[in-house]
Amino acid sequence: MNDDATRDVFERGREGSKALFEKARGVLAGGLTSELRAAAPFPLFIERAQGARKWDADGNEYIDYSMGSAALLLGHAHPAVIEALGRQASKGTLYSALTALEVEWAEAVKSLYPAAGQVRFTGSGTEATTLAFRLARAATGREKILCFEGHFHGWGDDTSVGIKVPFGRPHTHGILAAVNEAAIVCPADLESAEAALAANPDTAAIVLEPSGASWGTVPLPEGFPEGLRRLADASGVLLIFDEVITGFRWSPGGAQALFGVAPDLTTLAKNLTGGLPGGAVAGHEELMRLLDPALEYKGMRAGVFHRGTFNANPLSAATGIAAIGLFRTGEPQRHADAMAARLREGMARVLRHHEIAGAVYGPSSTFHIYLGPTPRNGSVEGLSAAALKSIPPAAVQALQLALRLRGVDLMSYTGGVTSAAHTPADIDQTLEAFDSAMEELAGAGKIERL
Ligand SMILES: Cc1ncc(COP(=O)(O)O)c(C=O)c1O
Repeated sequence: MNDDATRDVFERGREGSKALFEKARGVLAGGLTSELRAAAPFPLFIERAQGARKWDADGNEYIDYSMGSAALLLGHAHPAVIEALGRQASKGTLYSALTALEVEWAEAVKSLYPAAGQVRFTGSGTEATTLAFRLARAATGREKILCFEGHFHGWGDDTSVGIKVPFGRPHTHGILAAVNEAAIVCPADLESAEAALAANPDTAAIVLEPSGASWGTVPLPEGFPEGLRRLADASGVLLIFDEVITGFRWSPGGAQALFGVAPDLTTLAKNLTGGLPGGAVAGHEELMRLLDPALEYKGMRAGVFHRGTFNANPLSAATGIAAIGLFRTGEPQRHADAMAARLREGMARVLRHHEIAGAVYGPSSTFHIYLGPTPRNGSVEGLSAAALKSIPPAAVQALQLALRLRGVDLMSYTGGVTSAAHTPADIDQTLEAFDSAMEELAGAGKIERL
């Protein structure tokens, strides 16, 4: 099919989404609510979801690999989460007061994250990293945060510096020059990190996505988190693990349990709540006590200021407790990992079969599809962060559209996550769709052959 024919088929089957998008453009800025949801020729409007599947406004069914932007390790509408939600909703949704639920929730987090002596709940992952940076600056009396090329820590002013290629340039208008200057954006290797720390004695913290940039799109060098722990200790800098994606997913105790590295501060969100809004910062008491309003710190009451209407709201607390109860067993992770491994192997086979230049890779329950020439075919080893994050937009869009037409929805276009709800049959159906999509795209010259 040529481009026009493909769009035509897509549009004819999705008149409902198309009409809703027209309306949305009138009332929603940019026609959407998060820039990641933009899509050509228009985004899908989803009406319902269950397990590993979701259905759009026209009744089209999709196997979902976005899974609430990786927040739904248990799958959509898991009975334990829905039951907890219903039980709590009937008792009220917001009390602006403490609840026994949030104590139980924090205890559940602490039991899996030994480095988390105390927990402070926030409204989102972005709020969690924002607060972690503030805590680090307050505790050390230093200003700068060392982060790594392409690592994402939320959409906030100082949590998203260095996210887009070219990494050294501001990625958005509207941020104070001083904020950009307070971030040191460095390639993710130990030599560069060591040099950056030596050149910036005013560094408060090192922060990383322990998956590698963008939930593993750019794999980390071997031993990187361990090496950062040593560098942080040697220079009196705090180490922050942003486990918003990896928390509960990489293992019940996140990436830190898997690597055996204890960070000073951990940020959590997404699966922390069982898929509802919310987040948390966790760390040892000495740091977390700076949030105690009863304590005076450096001549100020409530040394580190933090508020939030929806922090630890009872709905998210109830579903978080239910979800963590299931994560604790390790079973959802084992299953989701096995499904992702099956998918990665099958997709790599498809690329080889059609002689397409690229690689399929990823840790844990993730998969990433790289399209383009690689130094060693079938592996992304040796490719820079900029290369891995710069697949031509036309190829990316074509892949998303071709897969949506075949009933598969990826997360951020070139990859996705699996869940405890994905079955081997879902994976095999996805592989058939991927095979047919790749054949069409390579045939039409939209992606490169070897
Ligand atoms: C590693 C990481 N940190 C922080 C965030 C921000 O979380 P939220 O979208 O809840 O603000 C995200 C979101 O995708 C993330 O992937």
